Amino acid sequence: MSRTPLISGNWKMNLNHFEAIQTVQKLHYLIPKGAMDDVEVSIHPPFTDIRSVQTLIESEELDFALGAQHCHFEDSGAFTGEVSPAFLAKLNTKYVICGHSERREVFGESDEMVNAKVLAILKHGMTPIMCCGETLAEREADETESKVVGQIVAGLAGVSNEQIASLVIAYEPIWAIGTGKTATSEDAQTVCAAIRSKVAEIAGDDAANTVRIQYGGSVKGGNSPELMSQPDIDGALVGGASLDPDEFARIIQFNG
Ligand code: 13P
Repeated sequence: MSRTPLISGNWKMNLNHFEAIQTVQKLHYLIPKGAMDDVEVSIHPPFTDIRSVQTLIESEELDFALGAQHCHFEDSGAFTGEVSPAFLAKLNTKYVICGHSERREVFGESDEMVNAKVLAILKHGMTPIMCCGETLAEREADETESKVVGQIVAGLAGVSNEQIASLVIAYEPIWAIGTGKTATSEDAQTVCAAIRSKVAEIAGDDAANTVRIQYGGSVKGGNSPELMSQPDIDGALVGGASLDPDEFARIIQFNG
């Protein structure tokens, strides 16, 4: 089963819309023609940059998919400061991250909210990148798999098998985010394999063989080839290194 790898750059709250345009242009310039034939790349800028990045990608026909970092689960209403998935769909957004550990930990998003977002993103024809991952304390207590599998089961409630097949799951151990610490490729593979077998249990083998599972947490040009060579790792969700076009271009070219 061949799954097209997806490398995603989550810029978090970095780069204004002027900087975003320069960064995307530089990234495009740095990637040789043909180097993205077998890999998909999505860029997830802050909301205020999205329209500018969309215009650039579409007018220059750049081979990047537009992504968002977050959305609300309702289409509209009295939700001050929130962004509707319907509005993101209007901007031709393809991927929306949901359930990132920073949203869960800093903004109190529950598994139920993440599930509602997964359903809302799918309803608007976009693809969720649903995140999961354990804290250091959970890892040390040997609770990694139970935590991650619990997040997957809760996040996928009411999602059809066909929809599950189409989505992206990102395994991001919280202790590896922005710390320079990366899970060993063997550890990352073990957890991603456990996620895939849970998906098989929930939605069947076809969905499990098709769903893409990313690893995230201090991915760099230097460690991406080994992580990406693992059989159950189909991509990377990259934070800090995606802000640097040289480093992100190296990650994208993990195949050499
Ligand atoms: P870093 O790559 O900076 O560790 O961030 C990972 C992440 O949270 C991507 O969503």
